[in-house]
Amino acid sequence: MTKESTYTAKLPGPDGLYDYTPEEDAIWGELYERQMTLLANMACREYLDGVKTLGLTADKVPQLVDVNRRLNETTGFGVEGVPALIPPSQFYELLSQGKFPLATFLRRREHIDYIEEPDLFHEVFGHCPLLTNQSYANFVRRFGETAVRLGKGYSWHLFRIFWFTVEFGLINTPDGRRCYGAGIVSSPSEAKAAMKGTECEFRPFDLLHVLRTPYRIDIVQPIYYVIDSFAQLEAIIEEDIEGAVMKAKSLGDFEPTFEAKAS
Ligand SMILES: [Fe+2]
Repeated sequence: MTKESTYTAKLPGPDGLYDYTPEEDAIWGELYERQMTLLANMACREYLDGVKTLGLTADKVPQLVDVNRRLNETTGFGVEGVPALIPPSQFYELLSQGKFPLATFLRRREHIDYIEEPDLFHEVFGHCPLLTNQSYANFVRRFGETAVRLGKGYSWHLFRIFWFTVEFGLINTPDGRRCYGAGIVSSPSEAKAAMKGTECEFRPFDLLHVLRTPYRIDIVQPIYYVIDSFAQLEAIIEEDIEGAVMKAKSLGDFEPTFEAKAS
C-alpha cells in the first residue's frame, strides 16, 4: 500500500476469515470472469491449471486460509496476509520461508481497470496459481533465501529478477509465447499489450541482462524477458547471483527505453 493510498488494510477475524462485502464479491467476480476469458489463449497451461487447483471461482472473494491450505497440499508453499506495505527485508524473509505476502484489501469499482498498488485480486489471482507448480515455487523460495543471505546492498538488483519473472514474465510454449507474470495475468491492458507485442520488445531471459534493466512500475512494460521453462528459473537462482549482481553493477544499467516519470 503506498503512502498516498486511499485503501485501508483488511484484518481477519479471530477465526482467520476476512469479511468481504457483497460489493467486493461482485467486483472480484467481474475481475475473475473478465481475466479468465482473456487468458484462455494467453496464459501458460501451468497458470491455468493452478487456478483450478486453488479452486478459485467468480462467486466470491477467496479466503486466504483456503488458498493457503491448497498451496500447502500441492507444493508446500503458503501465503500470509500482510496489513500494509512491508519493508523489503520482511518481504524477502517471508519468501525464504515459503510464504507469499499478500495485501488483503480489494480495489473499489473506480479502480476496476487499473490500480497501481497490489490488491487482493492481483495477489491471489495473479500470484497464487503458479505457486502450485513445484519448480516455480522452489524458485520463489530460493529467490527469497538468496535475497536474505545477500542482504540490503543487493536488494535493488535482486528485485529486478523478481520483476521480470514473477511480476512480468513470459514463457515459450509449444503453442507460442504465453504469459505467467502476476502483473500481466491480473491486468487486461498488460495482458493484451504483452500478447499483441507490437509496442514492446521480447528478450530471451539472461540473468546479467535482467540485472541491468531498469523498469517503471506505472506503465505498460516496454520489455519482457521470456523463459523456456520453469525448470530454467529453478536453475538460474542456483547460479552465482552475488557475482552476477557485482558484474551488473560494474557494467551499469542499460539505457531506459521509457520516459522518466514526471515528478
Ligand atoms: Fe505482485
